[in-house]
Amino acid sequence: MTTLLVNIKELIQVRPLDVKKVSGNEMKNLPTIKNAYLLVENDIIIDYGPMEDVPQSFDERIDCTGKMILPTWCDSHTHIVYAGNREQEFVDRINGLTYEEIANNGGGIVNSAKKLQSTSEDDLYNQSAKRLEEIIALGTGAVEIKSGYGLTVDAELKMLRVIKKLKENYNLPIKATFLGAHAFPTEFKNNKEGYIDLIINKMLPKVAEENLAEFVDAFCETGYFSVEDTDKILTAATSYGLTPKVHVNQFTTIGGVQISVKHKALSVDHLEVMNSEDIDALKGSETMPVALPSCSYFLSIPYTPAREIIQAGLPLALATDFNPGSTPSGNMNFVVATACIKMKMTPEEAINAATINGAYAMNLSDTVGSITKGKKANFIVTKEIPSYGFIPYSFGSNLIDQVYINGKKI
Ligand code: NIG
Ligand code: FE
Repeated sequence: MTTLLVNIKELIQVRPLDVKKVSGNEMKNLPTIKNAYLLVENDIIIDYGPMEDVPQSFDERIDCTGKMILPTWCDSHTHIVYAGNREQEFVDRINGLTYEEIANNGGGIVNSAKKLQSTSEDDLYNQSAKRLEEIIALGTGAVEIKSGYGLTVDAELKMLRVIKKLKENYNLPIKATFLGAHAFPTEFKNNKEGYIDLIINKMLPKVAEENLAEFVDAFCETGYFSVEDTDKILTAATSYGLTPKVHVNQFTTIGGVQISVKHKALSVDHLEVMNSEDIDALKGSETMPVALPSCSYFLSIPYTPAREIIQAGLPLALATDFNPGSTPSGNMNFVVATACIKMKMTPEEAINAATINGAYAMNLSDTVGSITKGKKANFIVTKEIPSYGFIPYSFGSNLIDQVYINGKKI
């Protein structure tokens, strides 16, 4: 079955297969073909080019006059498996409490953990599947999902099994990350070593045995997991073959970037607070810095210094951080717009960051993240728009006409 999309006003992010990520000045370049066609066979992109060369044989032909096509968003950092919501904490923050004060009063991550522990696996699956369907409709075609709202052996495994079931039932690439080290449960408040032992000796062996995660994460932050704790957890996890993707520098810079780079992390995420040593530590590494501007927006905390990172020659990816506490939104269109508006990224840089670099941050550059022969036919058809810069410019508008996953309209 071949589908030919024709008269595409501009085909965006057309790259050869060997481009796995883009860094520094290269991020300004977004390769496109104007007045283009795209040919899909079953679930794979097999050809594209200017309309002069349009193929004559196909099964189905779709006219895209006035519309653009770009790869689906690659959201490399989410927590979409969770139970209930935390809108009361949102109101508490409006009334003056800080995110930190709420967490210290028993709210925050442990609040979500309590809810999740008493939620059945089926119920948790249904709540999470709804969110997954919502983000696909918003143009996300590959996603990473973390555990970390369980904080007991059983509840962490329950979360990871829900992610596994989502993978089985939805046909976009989904990557699972084990985040047992998200917060210290209340009963371990005065026995942090005890919880780290539980992660290393009880959770990790089970996660590995059931093959429930490819990545490992830790919230390396003042008041959460120290650099030393993170080092221990990453050492144990990498010995099971898990690759680190780590929450660092959200509120304070304590050496989280350095320890993550030492463990060859695939990505370091958040980075709202960065000093020059943190940037230097990333130079020459294979670690992708990931910014989460919706989190900065929702919590009113600083934005990741994108300009400094890109100017240092580094790559940068953008993701949502969709979670009930700091970012109850999985809208990558908003992320891209906010990156332009608040982080001074150009539309080209932001689209690169949300597609090919996001794919890299999930180890998926070979299959998604660009319009490339041989990659998955996961792409967005926009409504009629004057230019691709119109996408972040029109923040808050939905400019998506159709989302294709594996060559099929959603
Ligand atoms: O990435 N910062 C750590 N974890 C999540 C938020 C967790 C929560 O508040 O539930 C984040 O922002
Ligand atoms: Fe997060």
